[in-house]
Amino acid sequence: MNQKIFIKTFGCQMNEYDSNRIFDTVKKIGFEKTENYEDANCYLLNTCHIRDKAKEKVYHEIGRVKKIFRFKTKPLVIIAGCVAQAENQEMLKREPYIDLVIGPQAYHKINEMILSYSKKKEKNEETEFDSISKFEYLDEIKNESGKVSSFLTIQEGCDKFCHFCVVPFTRGPEYSRPIKQILDEVKSLVDHGTKEIILLGQNVNAYRHEKYKLSNLLSEIEKLSGVKRIRYTTSHPKDMTEDLIEIYKHSKKLMPLIHLPVQSGSNKILDLMNRKHTIEEYLDIFFKLKEINPNIEFSSDFIIGYPGETEEDFEETINLIKKIKFINSYSFIFSPRPGTIAAKLEFIEKKISVVRLEKIQNQLFQNQIIMNKSLENKTLNILVENFTEDKKKLFGRSEHMTPVILSGKEDYIGKIVPVKINKSNSRTLFGEIINNSDQKVA
Ligand code: SAM
Ligand code: SF4
Ligand code: F3S
Repeated sequence: MNQKIFIKTFGCQMNEYDSNRIFDTVKKIGFEKTENYEDANCYLLNTCHIRDKAKEKVYHEIGRVKKIFRFKTKPLVIIAGCVAQAENQEMLKREPYIDLVIGPQAYHKINEMILSYSKKKEKNEETEFDSISKFEYLDEIKNESGKVSSFLTIQEGCDKFCHFCVVPFTRGPEYSRPIKQILDEVKSLVDHGTKEIILLGQNVNAYRHEKYKLSNLLSEIEKLSGVKRIRYTTSHPKDMTEDLIEIYKHSKKLMPLIHLPVQSGSNKILDLMNRKHTIEEYLDIFFKLKEINPNIEFSSDFIIGYPGETEEDFEETINLIKKIKFINSYSFIFSPRPGTIAAKLEFIEKKISVVRLEKIQNQLFQNQIIMNKSLENKTLNILVENFTEDKKKLFGRSEHMTPVILSGKEDYIGKIVPVKINKSNSRTLFGEIINNSDQKVA
């Protein structure tokens, strides 16, 4: 087969990782990647189901593809990801333009499905939860992504069942990959140029394989000399255990930004959400980590206008944001998801939620401006990842994940360099590489 695949990815970083691994897989049966979908003989949409009209977005996208290919040979159309899992056969019934539907735990079957389709032209759907076979299969196919900063999924699925969330239904039960499989994948990434590993999981800090926990895995990765930076996301406060907190005392490679979604600042709302922790417990984690390293910052996700959220509950969220001074955070209006408990509750009026969202986003924006301004004239360690789109500047990230634009040559890509920050806005820092190595790095 000599075919071209176009992959469009929605959703979280795990979908990005999956899309890359899907490509590594279909390469085995002769597919090349194309960035131009008019060239494609196979169009794959990797979907997300987390909020609003996810399903409708998929059908809308298929409508666009149909138009583009109206006078050309129809591509093979594959729907992957969380909408595929949630909707499965329904998608084949509703949209005849779709040929194959494949859920996130069945990607090891994609080649078989494509080959069978090309012979028999029979539509098919695979949505069984089979994480063990998936990762065993992917283990055989080397991850050669070669990006300076690479994602690596170590854990999938979720057993927590927060009342608003579809993930336990779309990604299935919690599963952690064997530690050897993960370390082999880290080594393969490092051999192909990766310097920063971002470990992924819907509940990454719930990682547990035999006697190994996330803290053990982090210590093992720390020992690999090619790895310069380590991050992990997304964590749940309930799994922020003492051993994981302790590791910040010694680690030289763990970055000082912890993405720990709190969702709300009100204990009443946390309870209604079934989050299984209190604000006091969350603050305890924050202060323990700050005591170990005052340079540690937190980022978070917030859900605004959850059913039952009063003005007082909302104020508690604002107060928590002021106290913790979250940076690099996300906020969303509650979106009722089919099959979840919260979808059956009485919703807050949309316009109230919209006003609250604006207030939250203003507060987060203020935090970010203050943080970024405070870095002007300081020198930071920046891992240079690539060129900017116009190829005129370099792009890198600070230890706190903030994007940095700097001048410099290709040789700096993949290196950690001291950069003096001379300008900032709410999202980005701008600076110049300091060649004088006597400069103290903040
Ligand atoms: N496992 C992570 C945790 O426990 O925080 C969250 C993973 S979820 C893929 C990412 C974010 O989507 C959540 O933190 C939440 O803020 C948001 N989210 C999930 N379901 C939502 C819903 N029904 N409405 C609005 N936002 C939602
Ligand atoms: Fe969703 Fe995260 Fe809750 Fe699991 S812990 S149900 S992934 S929000
Ligand atoms: Fe979306 Fe599935 Fe990720 S619902 S956020 S793609 S786990």
